[in-house]
Amino acid sequence: MAAVLDVKGLQVRYGGVPALAEVDIVVEQGAIVSVIGPNGAGKSTLLNAIMGILPANASAKGQIKFEGAEFSGLSVEKRVFGGMSLVPERRELFGAMTVADNLLLGAQRLRHIGAANPMSQLDMIYQMFPRLKERHTQFAATLSGGERQMLAIGRALMAKPRLLMLDEPSLGLAPLIAQETLNLVSRLSETTSILLVEQNAKAALNVSDAGYVLEMGKVTAQGPAASLATDPRIIEAYLGVGKKKANPGN
Ligand SMILES: Nc1ncnc2c1ncn2[C@@H]1O[C@H](COP(=O)(O)OP(=O)(O)OP(=O)(O)O)[C@@H](O)[C@H]1O
Ligand SMILES: [Mg+2]
Repeated sequence: MAAVLDVKGLQVRYGGVPALAEVDIVVEQGAIVSVIGPNGAGKSTLLNAIMGILPANASAKGQIKFEGAEFSGLSVEKRVFGGMSLVPERRELFGAMTVADNLLLGAQRLRHIGAANPMSQLDMIYQMFPRLKERHTQFAATLSGGERQMLAIGRALMAKPRLLMLDEPSLGLAPLIAQETLNLVSRLSETTSILLVEQNAKAALNVSDAGYVLEMGKVTAQGPAASLATDPRIIEAYLGVGKKKANPGN
């Protein structure tokens, strides 16, 4: 299997304070790879660095290879056009725009690469999320939490990405909807490789092929998802079974 994404020695600092130190991550073609870890470990920083949307006070170095090409110096627009999409932790929808217009914004890449009519991709998204179709004229600001999440994922999919990155897709959703979202992630992997950050480690590992544990900016464990899910240290720290530790990883 070829790697879609090959990150090596990625370092990120915010105003000189290290947030990621020498992180290596590989996503194989068609795989779902999850990154788990405590709050503040650097998970969002990792996705934002890969997507090229770090804030102005951040500096990054290291290799970000996407389908064999070096992406680390590229603008976010070039990364999107190249085939990466991110659903950020703050969903960043346009509240004063309708569901349909938010989705169409996601289709810029299709226009750029001269792909078939973005409207056919819109139909595909509406088939996947009938709720968005029903509500296509509704303002994004008035959607429920679960609907906003569908819209954020739908917008990322409008670009037909070959790597979809999701930052805590189940955040703030009721358990049943959260599980449905992860089931959806599993189905999406038929058409795109996925890098998933999830607070719900157990559910994430369940749908993943491989996983990484990120703690204080460093990868402290990695491997097939099934091995991580049965690793006693990871069970204790992240899978909610056994004794609870106040500060996992130290
Ligand atoms: N813009 C910023 N300026 C300064 N420090 C930042 C900035 N963004 C994040 N950080 C710091 O970098 C570290 C990693 O943050 P990050 O958001 O990547 O963690 P996370 O693993 O996604 O956490 P969570 O699970 O809470 O979402 C934290 O210590 C955070 O305070
Ligand atoms: Mg985060």
